[in-house]
Amino acid sequence: MKYIWILFLGLTVVSMTVPSENNKPKVTITDTDPSKEIARKVDSILSLMTLEEKIGQMNQYNGFWNVTGPVPENGDAARKYDHLKKGWVGSMLNVRGVEEVMAVQKIAVEETRLGIPLIIGFDLIHGYKTMSPIPLAESASWDMEAIRKSAEVGAAEAAAAGINWTFAPMVDVSRDARWGRVMEGGGEDPYLGSKIAAARVKGFQGEDLSAVNTVAACAKHFAGYGFAEAGRDYNTVDVGTSTLYNVIFPPFQASIDAGVKTFMNSFNDLNGIPATGDEFLQRDILKGEWGFDGFVVSDWGSMREMIAHGFAKDGKHAAQLAANAGCDMDMESYLYVSELAKLVREKKVDESKIDDAARRILTVKYELGLFDDPYKYCDPKREKSVINAPEHHEAVLDMAKKSIVLLKNENNMLPLAKSGMKIALIGALASDKNSPLGSWRIAADDNTAISVLEGMQEYKGNELTFAKGADVSIGKTQFISETKINTTDKSGFPEAIEAAKNADKVVMVLGEIGFQSGEGRSRANIDLPGVQQELLEAVHAVNPNIVLVLNNGRPLTIGWAAENIPAIVEGWHLGSQSGHAIAQVLYGDYNPSGKLPMSFPRSVGQVPIYYNYKNTGRPVIPAPNLVFWSHYIDEDNSPLYPFGHGLSYTTFEYSDLSVSSNFRGNGEITVSVKLTNTGSKEGKEVAQLYIRDMFASVNRPVKELKGFEMVSLSPGESKTVEFTLTRKELGFYNNQGKFVVERGEFQVFVGGSSSATLNTKFNL
Ligand code: BGC
Repeated sequence: MKYIWILFLGLTVVSMTVPSENNKPKVTITDTDPSKEIARKVDSILSLMTLEEKIGQMNQYNGFWNVTGPVPENGDAARKYDHLKKGWVGSMLNVRGVEEVMAVQKIAVEETRLGIPLIIGFDLIHGYKTMSPIPLAESASWDMEAIRKSAEVGAAEAAAAGINWTFAPMVDVSRDARWGRVMEGGGEDPYLGSKIAAARVKGFQGEDLSAVNTVAACAKHFAGYGFAEAGRDYNTVDVGTSTLYNVIFPPFQASIDAGVKTFMNSFNDLNGIPATGDEFLQRDILKGEWGFDGFVVSDWGSMREMIAHGFAKDGKHAAQLAANAGCDMDMESYLYVSELAKLVREKKVDESKIDDAARRILTVKYELGLFDDPYKYCDPKREKSVINAPEHHEAVLDMAKKSIVLLKNENNMLPLAKSGMKIALIGALASDKNSPLGSWRIAADDNTAISVLEGMQEYKGNELTFAKGADVSIGKTQFISETKINTTDKSGFPEAIEAAKNADKVVMVLGEIGFQSGEGRSRANIDLPGVQQELLEAVHAVNPNIVLVLNNGRPLTIGWAAENIPAIVEGWHLGSQSGHAIAQVLYGDYNPSGKLPMSFPRSVGQVPIYYNYKNTGRPVIPAPNLVFWSHYIDEDNSPLYPFGHGLSYTTFEYSDLSVSSNFRGNGEITVSVKLTNTGSKEGKEVAQLYIRDMFASVNRPVKELKGFEMVSLSPGESKTVEFTLTRKELGFYNNQGKFVVERGEFQVFVGGSSSATLNTKFNL
């Protein structure tokens, strides 16, 4: 067992013996700083490694392993297997389950010269087998503890399945609902996005990275990926300094502050430079200015893609650019392993850069405890008992309920009475047990989510009739490109219409199938897909008492529904316990408190649409017939539902807004507001604080979220909520990338969404 040998070697290095005066007995100094101890161990290993072995650490392969062994008939797999045995592979992804992980780890540890263990990566995006809501949905909870807990549950299951590194959280801010990957992030706002990034990192990594139930996290995709032009995945990104520093960077910085161990660069080019080969991003900013000491992995094949971008002339050049730019690990481009040693010998890449990359990777392996026991994540008994544990299902149910957003509730249509009613449940998504699992659910078992139908069937006091109405998709749903959306088959309409006619209330579950959002699933139209809008209107014609439950991975354009349907519930893709969560909200056993993390546009032509826009020189002029101001002639400027919006079964009132003191006095400003539950039910409200810097050396947005707090109130109860504004909240990055706080007038708004009007001013 070579790993023991390395461990021993490591330990001998930590203890330094120094001669004491007069040659008296020697004193042994053991370094008590664990990070220094690890650094010494890593240096000691590095000194034993050949150039090829160091480069091997920088090479990551996708799994090629069947439980029964490698897949030799596949030529590529044979090559990977050979490289693995030579110690030329530092990491693998998509190898999962104790048996598989154990098998590859054994080769690395027992068959290679130095026995260095692999770090095993996986896209643990919102759960392993027990699925949490998709990240965008979780973000709607604005509940950082619940989000942390959800990541913790995912980490526990993945770690029990042999995994020790997740490619999450995705912290890309995005303002474009056409982009399919908005489902994977924290929404449109850098402040909320930063808090969520930190909560997820802490959830994955826990207090102790070397514990058997935590995994290393990865902030991705660095940088700008969420700003793909026209919302088309992988597309070019061109943003100015102000957006880069003030909108795109903050959640990445927050991830570092939370201790994230790794970063992933991105597929896109940013202002003409592919991120994988971008020295400014990776060396100057990330490892330089921000002092990040973890490692950077490329995105899948993104190194080789620099050739298609027109930035690298061939594979060798791509490897040179990436290594010099600070990309430490190559995911599936095969270029470091094939080109880097040559590049070092030709002096096109300095060996110190290889040492630095290998050192960063080995350090994380040490921190995970892999050198102490490479099989620590491979306990079949633990795998069995941890995965799908009942308490995990409880946690994801709690998260799912907190993620639901009540968009509209005219005349208190909701909650539904629990008895004496005839309810028609309509829509293919209502009985769908797969879609709620959402996109990015590699390890989840198909059809394991609780459907809305199943959730509602548990409430037995009403008469429930289900009619599908129309399929959303025809055929396979694993990959949307293989799936045909149903645009023609309306044969189920009559049954649905009949059910609606005979019902007191109708619950319609409409939206997107699980794989209609996610990577590579950009949409040019973001309305209800297929014939669902027609179904909605046909049902409405016979019974307008409709509760529309949306199941979707992105904001949708639902203008007609917003106008005509009395109650709308945003039910996203809520994971394994989806149907229970939705039913409990519909029946009032859970009072919703979610708030939108992304604006809902009225029409796709408004996209990108976001609350924290700049005012323009010709802002909204509320006078009729004026032409020359910043607007559309065929659509409003405002969103259908703004960022931060979300109702409750009770009502809240904000009053008594005041600003306590002057910044120059004690270096911070306290804003307080009285929040009262004016309705008849107990409920939670996310009180939100926005500022506007009225005049600055770089235009500031009309509103910027700078604080929020979740408050629980009984009917009639009031609480004073206090927010603190410091330099951090009041400053911004100027166009030289420098953080500045400028004196002048600020407006502060507090309320239940970004449309908050209650405001006051203060001077800095
Ligand atoms: C995605 C990454 C992901 C990687 C590995 C890429 O296509 O962009 O986010 O981590 O694949 O699965």
